[in-house]
Amino acid sequence: MNTLSDLNVSGQRVLVRVDFNVPLDGDTITDDTRIRGALPTLQALLNAGARPILMSHLGRPKGEVRPEFSLRPVAGRLRELLGGPEVVFCKHTVGPDAEACIASAPNGAVVLLENTRFLPGETKNDAELAGQLAELADVFVSDAFGSVHRAHASTAGVAAHVSSTAAGTLLERELTFLTKALDDPARPFVAILGGAKVSDKIGVIEALAPKVDRLLIGGAMAYTFLAAQGEGTGTSLIEEDRIDDARALLTRFADTLMIPTDHVVADAFAADASSKTVVGAIPDGWMGLDIGRETRDAYVAEIQKAETVIWNGPMGVFEMEPFAQGTLAVANALAETTTSGALTVVGGGDSVAAIQQAGLADAVTHVSTGGGAMLEFMEGQTLPGVAALG
Ligand code: 3PG
Repeated sequence: MNTLSDLNVSGQRVLVRVDFNVPLDGDTITDDTRIRGALPTLQALLNAGARPILMSHLGRPKGEVRPEFSLRPVAGRLRELLGGPEVVFCKHTVGPDAEACIASAPNGAVVLLENTRFLPGETKNDAELAGQLAELADVFVSDAFGSVHRAHASTAGVAAHVSSTAAGTLLERELTFLTKALDDPARPFVAILGGAKVSDKIGVIEALAPKVDRLLIGGAMAYTFLAAQGEGTGTSLIEEDRIDDARALLTRFADTLMIPTDHVVADAFAADASSKTVVGAIPDGWMGLDIGRETRDAYVAEIQKAETVIWNGPMGVFEMEPFAQGTLAVANALAETTTSGALTVVGGGDSVAAIQQAGLADAVTHVSTGGGAMLEFMEGQTLPGVAALG
């Protein structure tokens, strides 16, 4: 796989797939991490005299032009962040109109094309669309780590239609840290998995458990494991059809998996609900919304001993203050162990939001821009957007 330094891009049109699938509130971008993540590649291309043409999806408009999914607000934010080079937003993604828009951009400008998912061929990885995208440029660079698990025209298909391809700086950095953690970890190696559903994480647990020294489970998915142990789970979120899978995992990886031993429980899913901490079973009428103090201390102790840590998924409903302590304890422990020299990688929208909320995003080794992509990478799956660059 080429990287930017392998290319001679001076004067060349470089089509860059970025992941600008950012959260929006109306026209306001509520988290610009992914836009910031693309800046090193853009600066490198501009410094090398290239003409960068950016493409991305935003949301899931299902092949239709839907104004609420336009990338225009992103062009505005990109302009502010770049703070110099002009950003030209093109209302079209391919074809003569896009071509004319690109041609009108002055030297030294960055072009941003409209949402690739306004085109029905995008998610079908349509070869004709991939060819049309490739016609816009001489070189294809992928910097969209968050989308490399999608075999779409702009993430994978396009690569077959250009003469040279490369990974951008962000993609390279993401793959470097994740590969280092998974293939050559300094030990102890601890993984922390949380989030709502065990069904989303079974493949990851199966792939990670044999590699790590400890796998700490939190979030609502922990209650399905609790049910698998025959403990009471009250009104907690449970995936009944996954209890057998959870039991099998507990048996198979008994020495590695840790599940919560105490829980912060509430009588309703609300910040002002009555809450208390219980050890062991969750009583009838109560739902688990966070790991308890004893579990927090045990998990923090494992993280403090670790030399490599991967974290995906919060420990509780951290958006509600009374149920945020478990997630914050993990975030703080990660920051501390990073200071002591450990390699720490955090990914997945919710855990990234949590580490930002704690003001600790700069205190860990790497904050991944990938949610699903990071999970599929950890599962050992082939990522089509990476394979296409090979
Ligand atoms: C993400 O936010 O995980 C990526 O941008 C991929 O988006 P998607 O799940 O809609 O393909």
